[in-house]
Amino acid sequence: MNIKSVLITGAARRLGSVIARTLHTSGYNVIVHYRRSADAARSLCEDLNRTRADSARIIQGDLAHIARLDQLVIEAAMSWGGLDALINNASAFYPTPLGATTEQQWDDLIASNLKAPFFLAQAAAPWLRTRAGSIVNIVDIHAERPLKGFPVYSISKAGLAALTGALAKELAPHVRVNGVSPGAILWPERGLSEARKAEILERIPLQRAGQPEDIARAALFLLRDAPYVTGQVLSVDGGRSLFS
Ligand SMILES: NC(=O)c1ccc[n+]([C@@H]2O[C@H](COP(=O)([O-])OP(=O)(O)OC[C@H]3O[C@@H](n4cnc5c(N)ncnc54)[C@H](OP(=O)(O)O)[C@@H]3O)[C@@H](O)[C@H]2O)c1
Repeated sequence: MNIKSVLITGAARRLGSVIARTLHTSGYNVIVHYRRSADAARSLCEDLNRTRADSARIIQGDLAHIARLDQLVIEAAMSWGGLDALINNASAFYPTPLGATTEQQWDDLIASNLKAPFFLAQAAAPWLRTRAGSIVNIVDIHAERPLKGFPVYSISKAGLAALTGALAKELAPHVRVNGVSPGAILWPERGLSEARKAEILERIPLQRAGQPEDIARAALFLLRDAPYVTGQVLSVDGGRSLFS
């Protein structure tokens, strides 16, 4: 049996690591990309390899170094002689208040959240084509309704949603490209008060935050169980995007 392999960016921790574990449990070999979280990436990889020998590898890289992305994809594809899927999960997230935003912040957010997914997809396309592969972009519901105080992040994710449709057209019929838009799943590690969290939860019809597994299962569905779906972005948000 041909084992499928998937490259997941920013997969050492948080949502990315749960996506990696979920896909691994479903039989994928995973290439865990990380930038700074080397210990977490190593320990995740060891864990997965204990479950199934030689089924996980790590790969390091700052996605803002666009010139290195071709090589990163080649290294990933060489792990097991090809590539079946790419998950663009890595993302930078911080406020950029209008009036105080620097060009460096703009470049940083756009590079990791939009430019890198495009160039990774471009580099991966030849590999994915030969395997009827698939791309999943992890977007955000704030691609559609900008998050106040985070204009550049919101713009980057809106671009990623547009990229999903554009790439779906460019890469059809051989490669499908879809997105998952999380709502409130894991709180940012700093900067959100308990009062603000309660306010956000109040506006979610299902009245709770989601679990990382909700996002991982949606990604798995789009990769494995949706052969007639391309160019779509699925909101996984407890219904939050129903309200402005
Ligand atoms: N958490 C949520 O509730 C939520 C809600 C909406 C959307 N999302 C989206 O879901 C995805 C995962 O969310 P998350 O909260 O788990 O993300 P996160 O913890 O904020 O970031 C994931 C990883 O992205 C990597 N990263 C950031 N900038 C990078 C760069 N320039 N080059 C390479 N790697 C870079 C970091 O890797 P290292 O640690 O190795 O440096 C980081 O661990 C993101 O796309 C996010 O926008 C999440």
